[in-house]
Amino acid sequence: MTAAIEIKNLWVRYRGEEDYALRDVSLEIKEGEFVLLTGPSGCGKTTLCYTIVGIVPRVIKAEVKGSVSVFGLDSFKTSPAELSQYIGIVFQNPEMQLVTSSVYDEVAFPLENLGFPPEEIRRRIREVLDIVGLKGLEDRSPASLSGGQKQALAIASVLALRPKIIILDEPTSQLDPQGTRRITDLILKLKKDFKVSILAVEHKVEWAVNHIDRMIVMDNGMIKMQGRPAEIFSKKIDVERYGFRPPQVSEIAYKLLERGIILPSIPISLKDAYEIFRRVLEDGKSTCRSN
Ligand SMILES: Nc1ncnc2c1ncn2[C@@H]1O[C@H](COP(=O)(O)OP(=O)(O)OP(=O)(O)O)[C@@H](O)[C@H]1O
Ligand SMILES: [Mg+2]
Repeated sequence: MTAAIEIKNLWVRYRGEEDYALRDVSLEIKEGEFVLLTGPSGCGKTTLCYTIVGIVPRVIKAEVKGSVSVFGLDSFKTSPAELSQYIGIVFQNPEMQLVTSSVYDEVAFPLENLGFPPEEIRRRIREVLDIVGLKGLEDRSPASLSGGQKQALAIASVLALRPKIIILDEPTSQLDPQGTRRITDLILKLKKDFKVSILAVEHKVEWAVNHIDRMIVMDNGMIKMQGRPAEIFSKKIDVERYGFRPPQVSEIAYKLLERGIILPSIPISLKDAYEIFRRVLEDGKSTCRSN
């Protein structure tokens, strides 16, 4: 598989700061992969996202060492316009990227900047507003939208460029449970129907564990753990330190282990939990019968 993102020995230090925000980060994300990036506040997740798309050091000044490439293009040397056709980013606060006065213009703006013909622009706007569920709201001002709708609009304006990779920086952090559900369903649809690679920064991991290929856990500017969710949650996680909660079923399993109940593995989904707990209960019953 082609590397969608390849990062080698990346160090980043913001201008005027003593400490490095990223320390020797190396990482590869393959085409079509869905990767979840997590870790405590301030550990460098947003910095990593910004550096992948070249916002650091181009817009936010910093000393950078190492290399970042997106489909073989050097993120530090390639123009934002060229990169935007391969990779799009939805910011932690979507209001930062909503710059026009209508939903329609918001999606049209990047397409016009890249010189797409008007008919193609109209077609793509119709298509992406339908995908993200904002059809009919074309004339609304972005400022009047709900948090979840703003997030969906930011996703639409990125999606309209048909990038091969989308970075979503905490897409659900400002949303209520219903908004979170809509956005997570939308992200899963992007992966399933449009085959885009996704790098999502998230503290809430439960919705994604059955869909992600890999989880990356950062701490203090470094990658501390990475692997499939089943590997990551096979041991009890220090929630305070790493800033994310395991799935509830995994937490139940840790509690059972603490009480001396032996489990064949740690479940990460309800389906796993049903199978694992059923086996344990049935073994318990047979032990009772034999006694
Ligand atoms: N523009 C900046 N100038 C100087 N320091 C910065 C800048 N942006 C971030 N930092 C610092 O870099 C470190 C990493 O910040 P970053 O925003 O990447 O963390 P994060 O993991 O995204 O945190 P959060 O979960 O709170 O969003 C922090 O110590 C932060 O204070
Ligand atoms: Mg952040």
